[in-house]
Amino acid sequence: MNIRALDLHDDGRNPPASALLETVRRGLRAQPKRLPSWLFYDAHGSALFERICEQPEYYLTRCETALMQAHAGSIADTLGVEVRLVEYGSGSATKTPLLLEHMSAPVSYVPVEISAEPLQESVQRLGLRFPQLPVQPLCGDFTRPLRLPIPPRAPRRTVIYFPGSTIGNFDTRDAVALLRKMRGEMGENGGILIGVDLKKDTATIEAAYNDAAGVTAEFTLNMLTRLNRELGCDFDLDGFRHRAHYNALGGRIETSLVSQRAQKVRMGRSQVAFGEDEAIRVEISCKYSLEDFAALAGKAGLDVLRVWLDPRQMFSVQYLVRAGSVAR
Ligand code: AVI
Repeated sequence: MNIRALDLHDDGRNPPASALLETVRRGLRAQPKRLPSWLFYDAHGSALFERICEQPEYYLTRCETALMQAHAGSIADTLGVEVRLVEYGSGSATKTPLLLEHMSAPVSYVPVEISAEPLQESVQRLGLRFPQLPVQPLCGDFTRPLRLPIPPRAPRRTVIYFPGSTIGNFDTRDAVALLRKMRGEMGENGGILIGVDLKKDTATIEAAYNDAAGVTAEFTLNMLTRLNRELGCDFDLDGFRHRAHYNALGGRIETSLVSQRAQKVRMGRSQVAFGEDEAIRVEISCKYSLEDFAALAGKAGLDVLRVWLDPRQMFSVQYLVRAGSVAR
């Protein structure tokens, strides 16, 4: 089935090559060099991310799934009846069925995903599993203002579902801006159901981003393959290595591509020079204590109404509402 047949709403925000070149050029001229982490997610990068989630060291997915299996009933009760569920960055939407199974008379499910392929595949899978549920996919970038499809009937509330600790990939300023945007999109009576990875010992966190099978390293390096293919760059993949280090003070994994030698790389009609050991910062993955995250939510005008933890207390799912909207 092709995208049209599924009636994907495309917000037209997949960047054209010229915009991509400009983003990359600006990032590689900056000091220190940096590239945005959304560049990971071409088709191959999305598939590699699915494999990361299966690695024994990457506890996040296992813990969040265990949490959803244990608490989906209580979470669905908290969301209430006749909800419109909007999932930001839905990918292959593997955890969503755990929630949908327990939801009472959901009005619609709106997966928002920039990569058309996993979106298409998840819509088909969910359609078979939940034939009564109206699914209204939106192909686009959830960090931009969204024009949500009109729901088939009026929902009691809109809940934005943002699992996977993807909020951790935003620095404080951008995370607050994104939570504020969600606050606007969910409306007065809405809520945000969000997965948040928790602070823990450095060894456990660093292992999750340096799996022994090398899948995360391949995922990071795939960004350069993408730039070679889409922008005609000539990155030598053997000339860069993946590095992920936990900055305990900042509470975040910092992932970089490190140049193995002094070298020059073609970028459009010019070249970019790299020194030996020079790093391109490609991702941060922030880890929070419950107090840290409540403070972050507060900056966006949100209160944490409920928190669920997995049995090992490694990961949290939290329900946020507009500050002051519920008498406690
Ligand atoms: C999508 N995001 C929450 C992942 C993370 O843990 O920061 C992306 C990732 N990068 C390397 N491994 C996983």
